[in-house]
Amino acid sequence: MTNRQIHLGLLAQPQGDHPAGWLKSRAPLDAATDIDYYRSVAQLAEQGLFDLFFIADTPATRTDNLHVHSRNPEYNNRFEPITLLSAIAGATHHIGLGATASTSFYEPYNIARLFASLDHISHGRAGWNIVTSANDYAARNYGLDKLPPHDERYVKAHEFYKLVESLWDTWEDDAFVYDRESVTYYDPAKYHVTEHEGKYFKLFGGLNIRRTPQGRPVIIQAGSSETGKNFAAETAEVVFASDPTLAAGKKFYADLKGRLAQFGRSPDDLKILAGLSVMVGESEAEAQEKYQELQRLIHPDVGIMRLSADLETDLSKLPLDEPVPVSMIPAKANFHQSYFNMIAEMIRAQKLTLRQLYAAYERGKVTLCGTPVSIADHMMEWMESDAADGFMMSFHVVPDDLSDFITKVVPELQRRGVYRKAYSGNTLREHLGLTRPANRHSR
Ligand SMILES: Cc1cc2nc3c(=O)[nH]c(=O)nc-3n(C[C@H](O)[C@H](O)[C@H](O)COP(=O)(O)O)c2cc1C
Repeated sequence: MTNRQIHLGLLAQPQGDHPAGWLKSRAPLDAATDIDYYRSVAQLAEQGLFDLFFIADTPATRTDNLHVHSRNPEYNNRFEPITLLSAIAGATHHIGLGATASTSFYEPYNIARLFASLDHISHGRAGWNIVTSANDYAARNYGLDKLPPHDERYVKAHEFYKLVESLWDTWEDDAFVYDRESVTYYDPAKYHVTEHEGKYFKLFGGLNIRRTPQGRPVIIQAGSSETGKNFAAETAEVVFASDPTLAAGKKFYADLKGRLAQFGRSPDDLKILAGLSVMVGESEAEAQEKYQELQRLIHPDVGIMRLSADLETDLSKLPLDEPVPVSMIPAKANFHQSYFNMIAEMIRAQKLTLRQLYAAYERGKVTLCGTPVSIADHMMEWMESDAADGFMMSFHVVPDDLSDFITKVVPELQRRGVYRKAYSGNTLREHLGLTRPANRHSR
């Protein structure tokens, strides 16, 4: 038995991550813009001793097929994530606070500044999920007709990241002396300008905030294409994995960890969190029934729309109860390669009808219906098999499924000695067992 500690992140969706979750949720109907409610969910996750509370994002509404999108709360009504986390920081004390921000639509200076501020505001709990974005709705809000090609977005992301990292090292840790006697606020020798002219960005300047409690906020990433994995191996400290089976999870884990050495990093410098949703019951049958009840509530418009978006083709004209033809799979993906490949694989291998396919398709995670014991067994199996360092949890119906997990599964994990009984550190880096990076300019 391993005693390796499980790390847990929460992918926070106000009423739940399931396409029909909001229909069953006890959260306020306007939960998406209710800051008091959001704070209560973060506090609940903190009671469950989670490492990370995480907000996914895309800076766009859906602008077409509104009769379909209007059945789904996911995209068109939401807080800006860094503003939201700044408000949550004041209502929590330990839990890490991570948000997505896209390298396709920000300037590096904005990101460096926003996350440095969040790290100070939260006393060292900030994490930045670097994405390149994966829809044209967002592109059209930023002067483009469509997203640049997939691999080119990663080239830009790399240049972007290097600049942000450099800006976070503008000030050495002890630069600010605040010495009234000598009338010296900071030591100018410990200030370092970033000067850069590259393919996408030109910058000359320093960050106008002192070095942050964590040195640099934690870097998160979730791409699983070849380019995505290489980028993660060089830069990421947390990776959200989305493999559906233990065999695939082990392969991804070994592959990604194996790429770290070429960047002078060790396997422990990056934590892989596998996507997981759970339904807890007194018996597996009861949990399964709860899940199936929810699955039956998926509106076909929503199910088909989610599939069509990730397969990058319109499936809405197909009959619901006939197998999806292999010929519907486009030659190539430009948005999320991992999601695209997952759907394509399901169509090829499983010959599911459209209705079965949208119910079976889980975006970036696995759903486990079980008892606290069987769920803990599953989590330990992934840890012991080197398929994960922890789990990126999302819950179908929030707050109830999150609360069930915390009151029923967490104690089982604690009893087995694989999950903390109290926070032992204060920063997100400390929770995850990541070292605080030295400033590149410090001697
Ligand atoms: C748990 C999780 C959260 C994610 N959050 C976001 C997000 O907030 N915004 C976004 O544009 N992409 C998000 N993604 C998608 C990935 O960041 C990535 O863009 C996608 O997998 C495509 O990369 P790839 O083609 O390299 O696989 C998320 C993925 C996972 C598994």
